[in-house]
Amino acid sequence: MNSFGSKLILTTFGESHGRGVGCVLDGVPAGLIIDEAFIQSELDRRKPRAKAGGTAREESDRAEILSGVFEGVATGAPIAIFIANMSVKSGDYDELREVFRPSHADYSWFMKYGVRDHRGGGRSSARESAARVAGGAIAKLLLQTIGAKVESGVAAVGGVWGEAEDFEYAKNSLIFALDKDKEQAQIAAIDAAKRDLDSIGAVVKIRATGVPAGLGEPLYGKLDAKLAEAIMGINAVKAVEIGSGVAASAMRGGEHNDQMNAEGFLSANAGGVLGGVSSGADIKITAHFKPTPSIFKPQKTIDIRGAERVIAIKGRHDSCVGIRGAVVCEAMTALVIADMLLANMGSKLAHIKTIYGSK
Ligand SMILES: Cc1cc2nc3c(=O)[nH]c(=O)nc-3n(C[C@H](O)[C@H](O)[C@H](O)COP(=O)(O)O)c2cc1C
Repeated sequence: MNSFGSKLILTTFGESHGRGVGCVLDGVPAGLIIDEAFIQSELDRRKPRAKAGGTAREESDRAEILSGVFEGVATGAPIAIFIANMSVKSGDYDELREVFRPSHADYSWFMKYGVRDHRGGGRSSARESAARVAGGAIAKLLLQTIGAKVESGVAAVGGVWGEAEDFEYAKNSLIFALDKDKEQAQIAAIDAAKRDLDSIGAVVKIRATGVPAGLGEPLYGKLDAKLAEAIMGINAVKAVEIGSGVAASAMRGGEHNDQMNAEGFLSANAGGVLGGVSSGADIKITAHFKPTPSIFKPQKTIDIRGAERVIAIKGRHDSCVGIRGAVVCEAMTALVIADMLLANMGSKLAHIKTIYGSK
């Protein structure tokens, strides 16, 4: 499946070493101002940061809008965005033509399709996530019209946890660190993994503020279920928590329940969703990323004939995919919430017309 959403439907296409990747976003209400510079800035945030263990693959990631936008405004037609692949070194992958990388999608996708584009992981590569970020940027523009926004930051790298949750600090941090006091130790953990020809996992926190109460479709389209599905579907995510998440199972009700007063909730264990419907409190999600599968140290594996092999992977790979993964988490969260907004409020939002009129 290459599409998701019910009213705001994102379809992505493309492979890591093909002509490029892109998306078609259908259901964007006519009249929404499409800020191209914002879309580009989101793609720039996802770009690798070499000093933060990012891949050395340098893509310009220029977003080209092909349709659905007239004079900077959504027409109501599908918005297609293309991002060309410019920095492709397929030769790095020659040795992988017949060999499966441990922990990547190589083996399982070959078992399913019997054919694979081994260059850079083909469609299974997180290069595709650039298309999600482009679509997510438009979802963010839609959410902006109701005063809602989605932010993220890195809470932990390889078990080095921060305590503070400073989303403003994370925006300018090299590794999107939420806690400036732990940032250097987290960077050191990435560097150490890299020196050992290895990779490292990370934990990302996502926060959506300004989301109105009442979004969500009980019983089989619950907001928390949709968010968990969208985040879990990001490459390398192995676990998703909403609110207090797994910690809730070790609590008593008296500790976990978010009591209320006239101003709102007195704590945030629910993570902004009750009974599958947004409560108006901040939506809080935690995503756990595994270490990058492609590592440079020798590993045991098999080839397509089942023969045992040892590979030391070449090519350009992130040492910690959770860093850039944070931006993808934001995009997927924004897409889910914007989709729910349209499903719950109709496909033509009166307030967007007002904004268009004031342009
Ligand atoms: C932003 C981002 C960048 C990634 N970059 C790489 C990479 O450079 N090398 C690699 O082996 N995996 C990378 N991955 C992870 C793989 O795409 C992913 O592990 C693989 O598709 C298998 O899927 P799974 O881990 O979800 O089971 C990246 C993931 C994300 C989110």
